[in-house]
Amino acid sequence: MALVNVEARASELLEAQAHIWNQTFNFINSATLKCAIQLGIPDIIHNHGQPMTLSKLLAALPINPTKASCIYRLMRILVHSGFFVQQKAHENEQEVEYSLTPASRLLLKDNPLSASPFLLAMLDPILVTPWHFVSTWFQNDDPTPFHTATGKTLWDQAGHEPILNDFFNEGMASDARLVANVLTTECKEVFEGLNTLVDVGGGTGTMAKVIAEAFPQLKCTVFDLPHVVSNLQGSNNLNFLGGDMFEAIPHADAILLKWILHDWSDEDSVKLLKRCKEAIISSKDKGGKLIIIDMMIENKKDDKSIETQLFFDMLVMILLPGRERTEEEWKKLFLDAGFSDYKITPILGLRSLIEVYP
Ligand SMILES: C[S@@+](CC[C@H](N)C(=O)[O-])C[C@H]1O[C@@H](n2cnc3c(N)ncnc32)[C@H](O)[C@@H]1O
Repeated sequence: MALVNVEARASELLEAQAHIWNQTFNFINSATLKCAIQLGIPDIIHNHGQPMTLSKLLAALPINPTKASCIYRLMRILVHSGFFVQQKAHENEQEVEYSLTPASRLLLKDNPLSASPFLLAMLDPILVTPWHFVSTWFQNDDPTPFHTATGKTLWDQAGHEPILNDFFNEGMASDARLVANVLTTECKEVFEGLNTLVDVGGGTGTMAKVIAEAFPQLKCTVFDLPHVVSNLQGSNNLNFLGGDMFEAIPHADAILLKWILHDWSDEDSVKLLKRCKEAIISSKDKGGKLIIIDMMIENKKDDKSIETQLFFDMLVMILLPGRERTEEEWKKLFLDAGFSDYKITPILGLRSLIEVYP
């Protein structure tokens, strides 16, 4: 029997093939973006101060001259994916010039809110290798594909490999800078009236530093694993403490959990939420609360946002034993841990601010 016997069937087959090719090569978007950042292309165009012609870009790039003709092709796909704008340099000439877009401006090295460290961390071979072990992991009893690939949890491995520890913490810090900026300008009321706050799993303290500066009366503690906070210096109203959040958490009016609960299973999350509840010393009226920054999976969002949330859900399944959650799933965790009420403010793009009350 002929596989293709009618025209309609042929177009369906070819459409299916095109879809498979598109999905097969999805990684090329992230690989080419990583290359552009490593070559410093957004910074070179930015420092030029005006749209930059291809020939000037080539002259400024630290590349082997035999590869020059490939840069136009690298730029062409990055124009397509929205990182650069390409236009003709002059009316009757062939030469093109490039300028930045909001997305490539957010990747500039000197942008204090740069997202480059997060991108470079997520695309480092140490964090990409576990993706090659997913089907093996489905058939064994390891907790995560990261464990199948390395024999350790991500946190244990970070404790043993300073390079991983450094780039992971720097990636988290770059995200924390952006979130802290939005929170302390757009949602000041979240912190008003509080005397003490503990940022649990607060990494190297980027988020807590911005909060401590914005609210000088607020005493902030960054609590994280010893290998993350050892050697870090506090300031007037900021200090660092090493420990295990599943054992005990320092007492405070408010506990902050940014990008923590999505790292853990429901069982571990309830355990951690109970530790947080024990640590909150004030009543709801006096500001006592848990402040969570994490995703809430919603199907009301646009296709690209839903896809990105699903990417994160897979990411925390592959690197960690975690998951992204719907509102119903969050609510169940809060009630199981003994909290009474919660409020969601969807102010952080794909993530939400969730305040949970004892
Ligand atoms: C995804 S990172 C989030 C860091 C930071 N909150 C942020 O969003 O930028 C998770 C953090 O949890 C910390 N962590 C993991 N297990 C921990 C434990 N048992 N006790 C304390 N911190 C822990 C990690 O070291 C890491 O800094």
